[in-house]
Amino acid sequence: MKKVVAFMGSPRKNGNTATLVQEVIRGAQDAGAETTVFTLSDMNIKPCQGCLVCRKTGQCVMQDDFQNMFQHIIDADVVVFGSPIYLWQISAQMKLLWDRLCGLFDENHKPRYAAKSVIMVYSQGNPNAQAFQASFQTNETMLKIFNLNVVATVLATAGNDPNTAANHKELLAKAYEAGKTI
Ligand SMILES: Cc1cc2nc3c(=O)[nH]c(=O)nc-3n(C[C@H](O)[C@H](O)[C@H](O)COP(=O)(O)O)c2cc1C
Repeated sequence: MKKVVAFMGSPRKNGNTATLVQEVIRGAQDAGAETTVFTLSDMNIKPCQGCLVCRKTGQCVMQDDFQNMFQHIIDADVVVFGSPIYLWQISAQMKLLWDRLCGLFDENHKPRYAAKSVIMVYSQGNPNAQAFQASFQTNETMLKIFNLNVVATVLATAGNDPNTAANHKELLAKAYEAGKTI
């Protein structure tokens, strides 16, 4: 049975990112996967302190909710990262998590774990789907260094209304399919 872990990086618990992550998860469950969802704004996750111990040991020295989330990533076949676009990039909630992931590679930037698939979910206010593609590409390139390979990206545009995604049938279907085809 495939294991899927999702991280929801919007503080709006009924917003577009949450809706689309739920659809991805629904698809994954229908495909028979075991799923776990973490809402990052509910987590106690401190900012990386830059000690670099994780590069040597693979483990973060800080004992907070990250430890459990990190173990879920290590155990997962598929990782879902969902974030609203805040100032052209992921939210601070997601950045806290991503900075803490450096234990996924060693001192020579060699990944410690086998490749995993990643489904990215974004929601942005801008109606232009092209607006932040450069940021999405940067994130995809960065995640590869951890052996995390983006296989699907689901993007809500014109998402200041928290119900935009819920009212967008094709987008919901795209999110569901991304989860179903893991
Ligand atoms: C602090 C902040 C910064 C934002 N920056 C951007 C931005 O750079 N570009 C954009 O298109 N929308 C921006 N937005 C709008 C959100 O991306 C948009 O409302 C998004 O759909 C929220 O996702 P959610 O419904 O999952 O919370 C910003 C919103 C906030 C609160």
